[in-house]
Amino acid sequence: MRMVDLIEKKRNGEALTTSEIEFFIKGYTKGEIPDYQASSLAMAIFFQDMNDEERAALTMAMVQSGDVINLSRIEGIKVDKHSTGGVGDTTTLVLAPLVASVGVPVAKMSGRGLGHTGGTIDKLESVSGFHVEIEEDQFIKLVNEDKLAVIGQTGNLTPADKKLYSLRDVTGTVNSIPLIASSIMSKKIAAGADAIVLDVKTGNGAFMKTIEEAEALAHAMVRIGNNVGRKTMAIISDMSQPLGYAIGNALEVKEAIETLQGRGPEDLTELVLTLGAQMVVFGGKAESIDEAKQILQKAIDDGSALDRFKVFLENQGGDGSVVEDTSKLPQAQYQIELPAQTSGIVTEMIANEIGVASMMLGAGRQTKDDEIDLSVGLILHKKVGDKVQQGESLLTIHSNSQDIEQVKEKLYDNITISESGQTLPLIHKVITE
Ligand code: URA
Ligand code: CA
Repeated sequence: MRMVDLIEKKRNGEALTTSEIEFFIKGYTKGEIPDYQASSLAMAIFFQDMNDEERAALTMAMVQSGDVINLSRIEGIKVDKHSTGGVGDTTTLVLAPLVASVGVPVAKMSGRGLGHTGGTIDKLESVSGFHVEIEEDQFIKLVNEDKLAVIGQTGNLTPADKKLYSLRDVTGTVNSIPLIASSIMSKKIAAGADAIVLDVKTGNGAFMKTIEEAEALAHAMVRIGNNVGRKTMAIISDMSQPLGYAIGNALEVKEAIETLQGRGPEDLTELVLTLGAQMVVFGGKAESIDEAKQILQKAIDDGSALDRFKVFLENQGGDGSVVEDTSKLPQAQYQIELPAQTSGIVTEMIANEIGVASMMLGAGRQTKDDEIDLSVGLILHKKVGDKVQQGESLLTIHSNSQDIEQVKEKLYDNITISESGQTLPLIHKVITE
């Protein structure tokens, strides 16, 4: 086989065979196929697309390019959730203990990553003592006993995706549905998921800016999952304004605790129950979505979800008493209100820019060596559709510096108050095929 023939075939709009795709991924991972040929093929895929068979083959070839996590020692169906990423997305922190408390095993491998706030691990590390440096045997034991554990990224997962994604980044080929879908799905499958629940965000704070783009990506991922034997579903959810009220690491842990107590923000609660119900059905613990939602609501109401969060924190060295006393979480030195400059209805809170404001306070990383300040961030008091009076606080800035003029300016620039407006729908669509 010659790489140049594959490039020409795809350039002419023909489908590649599974063995051709495997040849490309193996050769590229080993360094036998050079970047210029790989980028040429990526560009041909960008223009000519891939059919379902090619997409499934590309996904599995990338899975097989490195280590695959074996979770077979964990009893039950391992359902993983993936979000395409947003601002103030506290979902995982609530969802994991919630579904674990009703018997669905959550064996989560998580990273730190770049962004407006830290990743799930950073957020959890705002609980004193909590750590993810646990041995694999311990990880498996904890999931079998208490249905939930989080471990830091181990092993060499999907090296082909790492290499190809960096190459796409500099060759104008990131924004291709078959390439994005196979990239995301290969990582989930390599991490050991039997079933996958996807939260595809849309809006200015998301990777996919329009509902149409988000829907195309969601369909592509659901089809790949189902074609390679992993039950997969997706929801399209709004990320044009931040999710919930809290943006920041410790602040989001507090918000997660409140949500597990049944007094969290409405949007976050709705999202968690929607995704969670699907995980419970995939995990075989309920027959229908309605039944699953009832089971989850009960776990919130009777305290078992919160209790599971506490057990989980303690299992991994954390101070579980934070669930009773959230003042034990890191606190910023200053809390500064942002008063509304006019009266009216909030009609816009541009999620990604508000995320940037929280990053300016120190809540997130721009480069991988940046230190995160776990205590800082924002607490919104108003969301899109809410009425506000001039002088009333739109949000509280939690900061360790009083020099925050630029942060305030950023926030004012990205919050719009008008004479009339309405609330935004949170869940646009549910996609199961
Ligand atoms: N996120 C990924 O993991 N892969 C892509 O290709 C794009 C976004
Ligand atoms: Ca939030």
